[in-house]
Amino acid sequence: MASSRLKIKFWIQIKVFVDRLKIVAGGLLWLNGFMKWVLLIIGVCVVAGCVAKTQIPVPDTAMAAGSGHSLQTLQRGHAVYVSQCGRCHEPMMPSKVSDEDWHVVVPGMAWNAGISQSDEGAVMKYLHAARLESRGPQSR
Ligand code: HEC
Repeated sequence: MASSRLKIKFWIQIKVFVDRLKIVAGGLLWLNGFMKWVLLIIGVCVVAGCVAKTQIPVPDTAMAAGSGHSLQTLQRGHAVYVSQCGRCHEPMMPSKVSDEDWHVVVPGMAWNAGISQSDEGAVMKYLHAARLESRGPQSR
């Protein structure tokens, strides 16, 4: 019977078509799940990067008052610190390093960065002021 054989062919074709659809849909779903994770991870990294960047304290009048240095000096130190000391590595959080260690590290790094002595002084004052501020007013 030619007609029943045709019918079978027809159903097989539909089945193959549906199977192909399933494979494509499955692939899309898998990609969707996979991309979700990729996007999530990228998002977390971007946010973490932004937080790490904005954590380098920006001088303000409170920092100036707390440290006894002028706001202008601290702003210069901050600008030099971010632009020059961030050239070879991420600028470290001022509060992550002790004052003693900063006194040891900065002269060598200032030589690395090729900055002037007055810029080095401004960076040192800024780091000191930022450390003071990060400890909070009580423990000054
Ligand atoms: C020419 C590249 C360069 C510049 C500019 C530079 N550094 Fe570095 N810095 C390095 C290298 C390389 C290291 C790691 C090796 C080392 O400790 O000497 C480092 C390490 C450090 C460390 C960690 C030291 C330790 O012992 O763990 C600190 C803190 C630091 N730098 C601060 C600064 C500061 C502050 C400035 C700006 C005055 C600066 N860096 C500019 C290259 C640079």
